[in-house]
Amino acid sequence: MLAITSENKPATFRIYGKSQFRYAAVYVLITLVVLIFLNIYCSNTSQTLFCQSKQAAMLERCQVTASEIAALEVLSPSSVSDAISQMTTLKVSRLIITDQSGTAVYDSAERSSVLGEYVLLPEIVTASLGNKVFSWNYHAGTMLSRAAVPVYAYGTMIGCVYMTEYDTSQGLLLQSLLNNISSITFVLEILIMVFSLIFALMFSKRMEKIFASMRIIRKGDYSHKVNLKGRDELAFLAAEVNNLTDRLQIAEAERRQFVSDASHELKTPLASIKLLSDSILQNDMDMDTTREFVGDIGNEADRLNRMTQKLLSLSKVDAALEQESEILNVAPTIRRVVRMLSGIAAKADITIELALTENCPILIVEDDLYQIAFNLVENGIKYNLPGGKLTVSLHRCDDNAILRFADTGVGIPEDAVGHIFERFYRVDKARSRKSGGSGLGLAIVRSMVERNQGQIQVESTLGQGSVFTVSFPIFDTEEVFE
Ligand SMILES: Nc1ncnc2c1ncn2[C@@H]1O[C@H](COP(=O)(O)OP(=O)(O)OP(=O)(O)O)[C@@H](O)[C@H]1O
Ligand SMILES: [Mg+2]
Repeated sequence: MLAITSENKPATFRIYGKSQFRYAAVYVLITLVVLIFLNIYCSNTSQTLFCQSKQAAMLERCQVTASEIAALEVLSPSSVSDAISQMTTLKVSRLIITDQSGTAVYDSAERSSVLGEYVLLPEIVTASLGNKVFSWNYHAGTMLSRAAVPVYAYGTMIGCVYMTEYDTSQGLLLQSLLNNISSITFVLEILIMVFSLIFALMFSKRMEKIFASMRIIRKGDYSHKVNLKGRDELAFLAAEVNNLTDRLQIAEAERRQFVSDASHELKTPLASIKLLSDSILQNDMDMDTTREFVGDIGNEADRLNRMTQKLLSLSKVDAALEQESEILNVAPTIRRVVRMLSGIAAKADITIELALTENCPILIVEDDLYQIAFNLVENGIKYNLPGGKLTVSLHRCDDNAILRFADTGVGIPEDAVGHIFERFYRVDKARSRKSGGSGLGLAIVRSMVERNQGQIQVESTLGQGSVFTVSFPIFDTEEVFE
C-alpha cells in the first residue's frame, strides 16, 4: 500500500500548485506573443494607410504645380516665381523646381537656397529620367514626405518639380494611434495575467479542498463529505469521493458488524467449554457425569471447528479468489451431496426424493456447486419434521438450469425470510444451535451463487415447508457432453 507520509505530502501539493501556475504562465505567454504580432500588424497597416494617402496628395500637388509650370514659355526664376506666387493653395515645406539641365530655377527655402545651382537630390535625378517619385518617413510624431515629378511641355521634358513636407499634425495622429494600440495591448495582457492568476488560484484552492477532505477521510472519518459546489470536473470529482466514502462507510459498518457477530458466536461455545471444564474440576462427580460433560466439551469443540471452517470458506468467497470454473453437469454433484447426507436424513427420519434432468451443463466452480447443494440439503433435513420429505429436483427452463429444494419442514416466518441470507442469522437460535447451526450456511450459499452468475429465491409457509430455488445459465457445448 502506498503511504502518504507527512514529509512527502507538502512537496506533492507544492508541485501540484506549480502545475496550475505553469498552465497559467503558458497561457499568458501564448496570448502575449499573439498580442505582440497583432500590435505589429496594426501599426504597420496604419502606417501604410497614412503613407498611401500622403503619396496620393503629394503627387497630385506636384502634378498640379507641373502643369502650371508647363504653361510657361521660358523656365526662368522670375517667370516660375510669378507662377508659383499665384498658386495660393500650395502648402508644402519646400518646393524646388529645376529646368531641363537640373539647375534650380525656384527654391522656396530662404536659407540655404539652391537657386541657380545643380540639384543632385536622388528624387530629382529619378524624376528627370521621366519617373514619378515618392518617399515617406515617419519618426517620433513627424512625417517627412518627398515627391518629385517631371514637367512635360508638348511632349518634351522641360524640368522637374520637387516637394518636401513635414507634417506634424498627421504625425501626431499616427503616434497617438500607435500609442493607443500599444496601451490596449498592454492592458489586455495585464487583464489576461490577472484573470489567469485568479483562475489558477481558484482551481488550486478547490483542489486543495478536495485533498484536505481526502486527508480527513484517510484518517478514518468516513462520514466526512467534500463540500464543493459547482458543475465543473472538480465538483464531479468531489461527488465521486463522496460516493466512495459512502461505500467505505457501509463496508466499515458491515465489517464491524461481522467482527462483533463472529466474536459473539465464538464466545458462546468457548464459554460452554470453560463452564463444563470448571464443573469437572470443582465437583466431585461420578464417572458417568464426567463422561457426559467431556462429551459436551467435544460437541462444543466440534461446533467451534465447523464454525471456523465456515468462516474460512466465507472469507474465501469474499476475497473473490480466482478459481477455475468448468462446464459441469449438475445432476452427478447433487447425487454425491445426497449420498453424503443420506445417513443424517435416515437418522432424522427424512425421505429424500430426487427428480433430476440429466443434461443440464452449467459453468461453475465444482466445489461451489457442491457447497451450495450441501448447505441447502442439510437445511432441508435439519429444519424438517420426523417423517418429513425433501424433494430435490433439477430441470431446464428457457436457458437456465433450475434446482429446487422443497421440504415439508417447519417453514420460515414471513418477517424472517428477508434475513435468512444474512451472516449469523437464525430464526430459532435455540433450535439451530442445538443442531450445530451457526447461521452462516445460507450466507455462503448466496455469495457462491452470485459469484457463479446464478440467482437464489426462497418461498416458505410456516408449518408447511420451504422451497429454495437456485438457477444458473445453461452452458451448452456439444463436445463436453457426448
Ligand atoms: N429449509 C429451511 N426450513 C426452515 N428454516 C430454514 C431452512 N433453511 C434455513 N432456515 C432458517 O434460516 C436460518 C439460517 O440458515 P443457515 O443455513 O444460514 O444457518 P444454520 O443452518 O443455522 O447454520 P449453518 O448452516 O451455518 O450450520 C436457519 O437458522 C433457519 O432458521
Ligand atoms: Mg444451514
